[in-house]
Amino acid sequence: MCIIFHEDTKQFHLSNDWISYIINVLPNGEIGQLYFGKKVHDKDDFSYLRESGMRPTVSCHTNGIDDFSLELTRQEYPAFGTTDLRNEAFEIHYSDGSSVSHFVYTGHDIYSGKKAIAGLPSTYAENESDAQSLELYLKDELKGVKITLFYTIWKDLPIITRRVSVSNCSKNEISLEKVMSISLDMPDADYEWMQFSGSWGRERFPIVRKLECGVTSIESRRGHSSAVQNPFVIVKRPDTNENQGAAMGLALCYSGNFRALAEVDTYGTLRFLMGINPEGFSWPLGSGETFDSPEAILSWTDGGLNSLSQSFHDLYREHLIRGKGKTEPRPILLNNWEATMMDFDEESILKIAAKGKEAGIELFVLDDGWFGARNDDYRGLGDWYANTEKLPEGMGGLSRKINEMGLDFGFWIEPEMVNEDSDLYRAHPDWVLGVPGRDKSLGRHQMVLDFSRKEVVDNIFEQLDKVFGSANVSYIKWDMNRSISECFSMGTDAKHQGAVYHRYILGVYSLYERLVNKYPNILFESCASGGGRFDAGLLYYAPQAWCSDDTDAMERVKIQYGTSYGYPISSIGAHVSAVPNQQTGRNCDIETRANVAYFGTFGYELDLNHLSDEEFEAVKEQIKFMKENRSLIHYGDFYRLQSPFENNISGWMVVSKDRKEAIMACYQMLADVCGGFKRIKLAGLDPDKEYECNGKTYYGDELMNIGMVVTKELTLGVCGGVDHTSAIFKLVTK
Ligand code: DGJ
Repeated sequence: MCIIFHEDTKQFHLSNDWISYIINVLPNGEIGQLYFGKKVHDKDDFSYLRESGMRPTVSCHTNGIDDFSLELTRQEYPAFGTTDLRNEAFEIHYSDGSSVSHFVYTGHDIYSGKKAIAGLPSTYAENESDAQSLELYLKDELKGVKITLFYTIWKDLPIITRRVSVSNCSKNEISLEKVMSISLDMPDADYEWMQFSGSWGRERFPIVRKLECGVTSIESRRGHSSAVQNPFVIVKRPDTNENQGAAMGLALCYSGNFRALAEVDTYGTLRFLMGINPEGFSWPLGSGETFDSPEAILSWTDGGLNSLSQSFHDLYREHLIRGKGKTEPRPILLNNWEATMMDFDEESILKIAAKGKEAGIELFVLDDGWFGARNDDYRGLGDWYANTEKLPEGMGGLSRKINEMGLDFGFWIEPEMVNEDSDLYRAHPDWVLGVPGRDKSLGRHQMVLDFSRKEVVDNIFEQLDKVFGSANVSYIKWDMNRSISECFSMGTDAKHQGAVYHRYILGVYSLYERLVNKYPNILFESCASGGGRFDAGLLYYAPQAWCSDDTDAMERVKIQYGTSYGYPISSIGAHVSAVPNQQTGRNCDIETRANVAYFGTFGYELDLNHLSDEEFEAVKEQIKFMKENRSLIHYGDFYRLQSPFENNISGWMVVSKDRKEAIMACYQMLADVCGGFKRIKLAGLDPDKEYECNGKTYYGDELMNIGMVVTKELTLGVCGGVDHTSAIFKLVTK
């Protein structure tokens, strides 16, 4: 890994064993993009990659250089208002009413390691040798504003992270209308765009379409990254599949409103932008102030989508997730939500927990309904003290009793929200987002607290601190159950209202940071009505995320398959729940429900007292299996084998980093009548090693090229097969 600066040609070459990223100072002083892709040898001069030549109707505002137009030039951070009329990376409104910028290179710094971003989540280099960074300094002399472009290249991963800061060194206030975290211009546009879209209960389904001349874009305007669109996209060559071909992945380490955009211009070049959504964003920047964008993560591969995903998985596991979630195995938990909803008391909870202990569960999680007057979802949010009618000795008493059983204890919170029927709202009606004099909209009967205000975040911190401190807490599930609408802060002046969406998320991050620092032994799991805020930003604080409220095993195969494109298996909250399933009404046997949930953090979300003896014995075996295999599943390389979006039989697998062990799972949605015999081709194995599986021995190449025969295991018959079946295969080298 290295970053080289060629003084004579003013070119920078960032490279490691896989990728090269080459940029230069353009004739007008701005920064140009020359190459991003597979590693190439370094040399002094790549300037032939900047092609110039005029086209009719193209303007040229470049002081005497006739054949140099920004519209035809690949750039690193293109400005609004110039001769480049494509979508720009940034737009600044100056005090004289103008919004034309011209930022030129003034210097740079190259150093080992990586700097953190104050107040924002970001990837980190624990050792300086893990990464190298470049800062490019740009200045608009006329306006006295500086921009720094930050780049980090990682030693062991085909990944570059980028971000931007804007500093106002002038005497006048300016307004940032758009500050994208990354802009990348590629020389051709023969790509397909892949996004991960959905809704509540149907999160992150992949959608693929060919990029054509014009704009392709996804965004969130909901105040959180959302289940509708995820801040992660892939741009791939049309012939790229899971196991071969070129692709780029782009993720935003941010949990608020975002935009990802690809623009193919009329000359067939591609511009790729990602950052805070400029809709609803306007950030006044006073004299002497600096604004930091969130971090964007850019990966490249020529080894197919599995290899692209594995790079993101490795980056997040090694350089984003922190604390206990990084160093300790993820606990196998039992959550009471689908078992009891809010209808419980201490006795019923202890009964559920005790059965969990008998099965081998490690952590009991008390979900919604333990606090304030929370007996239904009309009341209680905002009042973070135990309801002593349900829990006579409070959280302290309950956690002690759970601990005495030999279980760790954790519970649910939804700190960003408030019900009208709560002590907090009665005391502070102006602490919610909303416009005075207008009706306040409710979502799940609740309003959003104004986390852009420090006093609001402080109040919630103090309440949570008290309840966390009153009990022995090992885990917290942090939920968020409605999007932001009518975004207006009653504690903010008119000029700063455009900053509220971003300030809100900064408030969320600040509360997380304070809690994570004060309670390092707590493992946080994020949640937003299931997977409505599953993004890289939150993984920095909460190493796992409840993936979806849809716990139906067959639906979960799709949801977890889609999620795996951008996020590691260790981050995917997945539980076995009761049947008929609460969301779909579907029946699935207990084996299949577990066979899906294994490929996640793994736990149960039902009352184990209600199982038959046979099922309970099966649960004990499942927990044993997961304890033995969780480090392989969570830290191995994950491969998607057969998509549930395209096939009745789908499959995936994990392979240990040393390729000595692997687990493959396959799932059959519906029984077919008189169907063919079925095989699944495996991936990632050592072709020359022999693997034992169910008493048989196979070479790795055999399993990868011929495939594993799965007909019998999926109980496929001539007729009368079974719907919703699955099978697990553990492979170990001889
Ligand atoms: C939504 C979550 O996704 C569920 O798992 C559960 O915690 C409920 N909220 C509780 O209100």
